[in-house]
Amino acid sequence: MSLKIRSLTKEDSQIFLSFSNENIGERYYTKEDFNKIVTLSTKDDVIYSWVLEDTSTGQLAGVRLTFPPDHWQYVETISLYKKAWQVPANRVAYFKSLFVGEKYQGQGWGPQLSHKSIQQLKTIGTEAIVTHSWKESPGNTSQKYLKKMGFTPVGEHPLFWSQIDYDCLVCKRPPCQCTAIEMILYL
Ligand SMILES: CC(C)(COP(=O)(O)OP(=O)(O)OC[C@H]1O[C@@H](n2cnc3c(N)ncnc32)[C@H](O)[C@@H]1OP(=O)(O)O)[C@@H](O)C(=O)NCCC(=O)NCCS
Repeated sequence: MSLKIRSLTKEDSQIFLSFSNENIGERYYTKEDFNKIVTLSTKDDVIYSWVLEDTSTGQLAGVRLTFPPDHWQYVETISLYKKAWQVPANRVAYFKSLFVGEKYQGQGWGPQLSHKSIQQLKTIGTEAIVTHSWKESPGNTSQKYLKKMGFTPVGEHPLFWSQIDYDCLVCKRPPCQCTAIEMILYL
């Protein structure tokens, strides 16, 4: 097995959706969502989202979806605790999904993928990153990873993913009952 971190590209549609169906939940992302993710990840020809590829199979082993500042808040219709942020909203990037395949977890790949985005975000003057942590993530990996990275909680969103018609890995069938913890990292 040989793993490589590289930028997400628009050619990744098929392997991205197959990874997402297996590791995030069946139908969580559609092909249209993927195209939107590529658009929101790209600013001034730089792609801020990264993937972990298993080069022996050509399949994905992890994804880090990142949207740069001033490029997502007006498109993503998500609720936010903006008043709790200590920096201007237009200097805040968004960490959308981070998932590492089960057999690759606990080996530091999640933080490595995230650091790739953080390095890029710092060069364009980003002051903070906001994310929605999955409170019910198996093994509490979401909270463990985010706290280790230095993220702090700003508020909770019950039923955050309940409007998405997908098979959550924990709830099994829609509607998803899981809670998101909004968290922020100041850079
Ligand atoms: C969260 C996630 C992306 C972190 O990536 P990773 O490569 O596993 O990160 P790390 O190797 O740094 O591990 C993070 C912590 O989770 C623990 N962990 C990882 N996999 C685990 C597992 N399957 N069961 C229990 N704990 C696990 C690690 O021991 C580590 O804790 P520690 O720092 O106290 O030792 C990954 O575990 C994952 O995809 N989890 C499920 C999806 C998820 O919750 N995504 C949302 C992220 S906001």
